Amino acid sequence: GIKIVTIGGGSSYTPELIEGFIKRYDELPVKELWLVDIEKGREKLEIVSNLARRMVKKANIDMKIYSTLDRREALKDADFVTTQFRVGQLDARIKDEKIPLSHGLIGQETNGAGGLFKALRTIPVILDIIKDIQELCSDAWLINFTNPAGIVSEAVFRYTNFKRYIGLCNVPIGMKNNLAKLLEVDPSRIDMDFAGLNHMVYGLNVKLDGEDITGESIVKYIEGNITMKNIKDIEFNKEFIKALGVIPCPYHRYYYKSADMLKSELEEFKEGTIRGQVVKKLEEELFELYKDETLDIKPPQLEKRGGAYYSDAACNLINSIYNNKKDIQVVNTLNNGAISDFKDDEVVEVSCVITKEGPRPISMGYLPTAISGLVRQIKSFELLAAKAAVTGDYDTAYLALCINPLTSSDDVAKIVFDELIDAHSEYLIKK
Ligand code: NAD
Ligand code: G6P
Ligand code: MN
Repeated sequence: GIKIVTIGGGSSYTPELIEGFIKRYDELPVKELWLVDIEKGREKLEIVSNLARRMVKKANIDMKIYSTLDRREALKDADFVTTQFRVGQLDARIKDEKIPLSHGLIGQETNGAGGLFKALRTIPVILDIIKDIQELCSDAWLINFTNPAGIVSEAVFRYTNFKRYIGLCNVPIGMKNNLAKLLEVDPSRIDMDFAGLNHMVYGLNVKLDGEDITGESIVKYIEGNITMKNIKDIEFNKEFIKALGVIPCPYHRYYYKSADMLKSELEEFKEGTIRGQVVKKLEEELFELYKDETLDIKPPQLEKRGGAYYSDAACNLINSIYNNKKDIQVVNTLNNGAISDFKDDEVVEVSCVITKEGPRPISMGYLPTAISGLVRQIKSFELLAAKAAVTGDYDTAYLALCINPLTSSDDVAKIVFDELIDAHSEYLIKK
């Protein structure tokens, strides 16, 4: 039987994961699931674990749910480790969003200044987890969902010798499933290449039953105005996207519609309804539901979070590694020649064949001219952010912020940077 350890087990997303494992139990017999959290998450962990136990009982399968604050105890002999934690909880996210906005910069938890600081808080913890894995379950695969997934992945591959790491995001699977809905076909009939970086990924070469439908897919995609629950659905300019010739991800709104997104966020900021604040309320509602001892399924209210299809992404990946399926999934891994614009040792988000040895990236050639510069610029930002997180060198972190396309002034960036350093000091490593 398989042993899985989920770090950040108190997350409100955990029931998604449980549902995914229950659905796949025949192929993927998870016998032990260990949910791990920290003292601050004790109550959430307790509530989620009890719901998980009811879900497993209702499904009538043999999967034992453990909950613990002792990460090392949990990790012993694990086969897969998944990470979905938030250093500093939602209050830290709200600061990542509010502080940039209070100075007129976009406040987003995975892009720009907020994303940089989430990286600085998260990477030291991931590196600690990897040390524990290397000691306690060195053959385990680490599937990381913790954001900013791209920068975290870059740090892991660049600064550790741990190879059994995969960074994961629900954006590609969400784009494909939503496109399939618009085309009114089953997603399994669609093949679509993905290439780029996390939250900076593009869809290319869409095929339906093997026939190229990229052009009409782009039209459908912009007419359908596909987004995710956490990203305001401001429309892309149709002429622009048609000329672009590839499908942008929902997060590209921050880059191609910066002024519009900023305006909308500033309104939310005034009203006290920025995403972190909305999610805080949503989370309270979810946990009230989770506490109900008659609840034994994943409640549909969870769909209000941005993580739609999260469980499919995570469970499909684990399933394909375990069963050596060699199907195609989109993950964050070393480029190894797949996208010609990147070096072999840079992390990209790209379609891969998933084998028991891990993901094998599929060759994509060069990216179109219109997008190659932006993704390279974001990679420069990620490289500097990862370096700063590992070294604690805050000159490098400030440099990263200044070169980010969402930063409109180096001086404003300095003010925002200093405030964020102050706000998060308890979670930042000292040089
Ligand atoms: P959350 O605020 O509910 O945090 C999850 C749990 O992590 C909490 O119970 C918290 O106590 C715990 N935690 C904090 N520090 C920890 C540590 N050092 N060790 C173990 N546990 C710790 O967060 P959430 O909204 O459920 O999101 C969890 C993470 O997943 C975030 O980083 C978020 O950005 C990420 N996420 C990623 C994607 C993706 O596409 N990759 C999608 C959704 C969420
Ligand atoms: C999307 C992204 C995640 C992000 C999440 C936020 O699914 O892919 O990386 O963290 O949404 O959702 P939330 O409900 O927390 O705003
Ligand atoms: Mn994501």
